[in-house]
Amino acid sequence: SVPLIFDCDTGIDDSLALVYLLAHPAADLRAVLSTGGNVPTDVVCGNNLAWLQLCGRDDIEVCLGADAPLEAPLMTTEDTHGPLGIGYAQLPVPTSTKSSRDAADAWIDLTMDNPGEMVGLVTGPLTNLALAIRRDPLLPTRLRRLVIMGGVFHHGGNTTPTSEWNIAVDPEAAKEVFAAFGTDGAPRPIICPLDLTESIRMTPDHLGRLAALAESSPVEQPGPDDEPGTRSVADNTIVRHLVDAIRFYFEFHEAQSEGYIAHMHDPFAAAVALDPSITQTRPACVDVETTGSLTRGTTVADERGFWGRPVNAGIATTTDADLFFDDLIERVAAFARERRGGP
Ligand code: BDR
Ligand code: CA
Repeated sequence: SVPLIFDCDTGIDDSLALVYLLAHPAADLRAVLSTGGNVPTDVVCGNNLAWLQLCGRDDIEVCLGADAPLEAPLMTTEDTHGPLGIGYAQLPVPTSTKSSRDAADAWIDLTMDNPGEMVGLVTGPLTNLALAIRRDPLLPTRLRRLVIMGGVFHHGGNTTPTSEWNIAVDPEAAKEVFAAFGTDGAPRPIICPLDLTESIRMTPDHLGRLAALAESSPVEQPGPDDEPGTRSVADNTIVRHLVDAIRFYFEFHEAQSEGYIAHMHDPFAAAVALDPSITQTRPACVDVETTGSLTRGTTVADERGFWGRPVNAGIATTTDADLFFDDLIERVAAFARERRGGP
């Protein structure tokens, strides 16, 4: 199994990534760390607690992260993810509470306790990980793998003409994290950039398949009042909340002239964290522009050794999106069905 630290800014696609990780039998989620990004950090933390409780996994630790980027003021994007970061979903208010340790300490402690075993997955700004590495510079050498959704290399940005959201929110943090890799003993982080994740487009058809599969397949041990095939889509609570969240994301993408679809940035990165063989990667030395008046937050990849610095990343380039969606839909549907839509 894959022991995971998931650091996110939940977030509609972060939400689906989280449920996918809960649904995947290979994933052993040890902590969910909250970082400010799509919405403020405390709202992200509340969303993480709420999804875990809804899915019957409030035993998993949820940590609050830094409330602002290293140097810049926090920017959020409620237009993209809804006022609370989860689109139209209205999750029950969680009764569980956050951990007493902060997100950076969780990165440090979990990798200390399990050297060489933990897989890190970051689908938000890199603030927490940068703070953890400042406190503990050897942290990268204790990771088994690190997967980051962020950056853009040959494609237009989604935050400025040349920058991607997760990097643009905290460019200093991203710069520090990339600088901490490329040394002996540290794994090469896999970057899932916008170039690739924007080609992973969820459609209403995918969501319809998820809902149908979650509802119509027989449950393993149906109770007397819970006959398979008798529940409507809306009766499966987990699927209903996911559909309500993603509907907002479809509308946002449509308003951006992308069509009635949604880019599955973070669920794809989650799939790579569990099985890196689903993508091909290109080795590069990656750095982040922090001072350019037009280009702050831009990721730059040196693939030819111009800088004379070591390779510090593998940039994900291609994947089979259909296979990815089949896996996502089947696993999340099976999980929702098994849970009968609630804890
Ligand atoms: C990234 O930005 C966020 O809004 C999404 O959750 C994703 O992690 C895509 O640029
Ligand atoms: Ca995210």
